[in-house]
Amino acid sequence: MSSAQVTFLFADGVGKTETAAPGELLSDVAERAGLHLLMDCREGKCGTCVAQLVSGAVEMDDYDPAVLPDSDRDDGAILTCVARACASSVVEFSYDSIEASADVAPPFTATVTACHQVAEEIWTLRVAVEAPLDFLPGQYVRLRPSPELPWRAYSMANAPGARALSFYVRIVPGGAFSSWLVERARPGDTIEVEGPFGAFFLRDEARPRLFVAGGSGLAPFLSMLKALGPAARAAPTTIFIGARSGDHLFAAEELRAATDTIPNLTIRRFVERAAPQDCETGYPTAGFASGPIEPGARVYVCGPPPMVEAARMAAESAGLNKQEMLFERFT
Ligand code: FES
Repeated sequence: MSSAQVTFLFADGVGKTETAAPGELLSDVAERAGLHLLMDCREGKCGTCVAQLVSGAVEMDDYDPAVLPDSDRDDGAILTCVARACASSVVEFSYDSIEASADVAPPFTATVTACHQVAEEIWTLRVAVEAPLDFLPGQYVRLRPSPELPWRAYSMANAPGARALSFYVRIVPGGAFSSWLVERARPGDTIEVEGPFGAFFLRDEARPRLFVAGGSGLAPFLSMLKALGPAARAAPTTIFIGARSGDHLFAAEELRAATDTIPNLTIRRFVERAAPQDCETGYPTAGFASGPIEPGARVYVCGPPPMVEAARMAAESAGLNKQEMLFERFT
């Protein structure tokens, strides 16, 4: 093919068109157009960059089919980070142009204030920042304890605008960040922070919402619950929480505080084995069968890719609108 025109179209109706060389990655085309598309892994493994191909054609490099099932691809969904231009195309994003126009702020330094285990495989990390960090509830930052270690992405569990950020980290045996956190991190240490990033954030709307969390995927929902405004609180909020066992559950105090302040909040906990009191045995997707499922609820799912895919299918089977679901996958 000769060069093609690629139009990036956003939810607020703003569009930007740029010339693409044959086989050029759409993410590179967008950068040249001055757009910073929302992305995380940049290698087809998280699904953050999903968009809709409205017209034209792209070719995609290898990606994880768990984050883009064939049925979605058949419906026109693409992963922008691995999509290459092969014809003039229009690609539509579910977020406003302002999200893609903001310059990425340079990394800044934070100070560790607390780090300790809170549940099986889960540690908390709290850091203090010099200036309050504005972000959308549900977004994440990248953290790097030192230049020799890789950046790792974690969602804030606190409300936006605070000078104290809190994270829940799933400990991965042998993982670089996990090893630092468990073996070396101490209050007073410094850590680099970059962001915020991500399209998985609470939509500001007075309509029912259903959160589905797997493991440490509960963190962004804690931020969302703390940030719900008065109008949003009036609408029903339901959260299905999944964990491997009762010992893997965390943030009980924060969830209790949320039930005190959010009148229409329903929390159901599911564990895979030996359910303690107040928990059910099974996966969080079991909640779709027994509810409550509010008609018209917007669905937010955060967890490992297989759980996210199972929740997506369960939500569709329950009659919820596929176009209005938001997903955050982590590995
Ligand atoms: Fe494209 Fe992760 S940024 S799949």
